[in-house]
Amino acid sequence: MDTVSAQPGNPYAAAAVPATRFDIYVFIHKALREFMHHTVAAVGAMDVADAGERAEVCDQVELLLATLRGHVQHENDFIHTAIEARRPGGAADTTEDHVGHLEAIANLEDEAHALRSAAPGQRAALALRLYRHLAVFVGENLLHMQVEETHNNAALWALYRDDELLELHERLMATIPPQEMALVLRWMAMALSVPELAILFAELRAKAPPQAVEALLGVVREPVPAPRWARLAMAIGRQP
Ligand SMILES: [Fe+2]
Repeated sequence: MDTVSAQPGNPYAAAAVPATRFDIYVFIHKALREFMHHTVAAVGAMDVADAGERAEVCDQVELLLATLRGHVQHENDFIHTAIEARRPGGAADTTEDHVGHLEAIANLEDEAHALRSAAPGQRAALALRLYRHLAVFVGENLLHMQVEETHNNAALWALYRDDELLELHERLMATIPPQEMALVLRWMAMALSVPELAILFAELRAKAPPQAVEALLGVVREPVPAPRWARLAMAIGRQP
């Protein structure tokens, strides 16, 4: 890791350096990027006069915001706590970012709620406000995640062995309810490469009962185009 380019002030650096260590962020962050991009696009493409589409998009915005609030909590409780335990102040920058993210999430929830119940003459302006504010929030999150994947990963790798990081990840995953797991997996199905999904399912098969793995495969299959599903099925040794 280039220690200069991994500084939090340089979010563009180190993206091309492949991780040879366990990367606690990469799968979930790919899923969240996909969920955020899709949601911004959905708000932009919404016909505000269509009540069904407006309700559906507001539901998606609220689900995204709830997911991101949970994600901040998971990172605070497990990852930042681990960094701070061995390097006091080591997670200060991203901890401060998280305070701002929680405020932004609450404001965006208010905006989505206002759009949902707006009078016809106000809907277009409220939708455009939400679109722009959500896009700014996503932009800030993209830069923040880059700092986590460079600066925070560098700290984790300096402070912990991989078996300790895997154990930390296991403890974090054990707190995630099945419904949230299924939601995240749905976005991972689109956001991860087929080899990455194969790794994920190999891990799931090693831990979860076959019926639970089948149910999760069903979650993955639904949003995935047929050719991608065929490649994934082959990679995990299953009939397409
Ligand atoms: Fe974060």
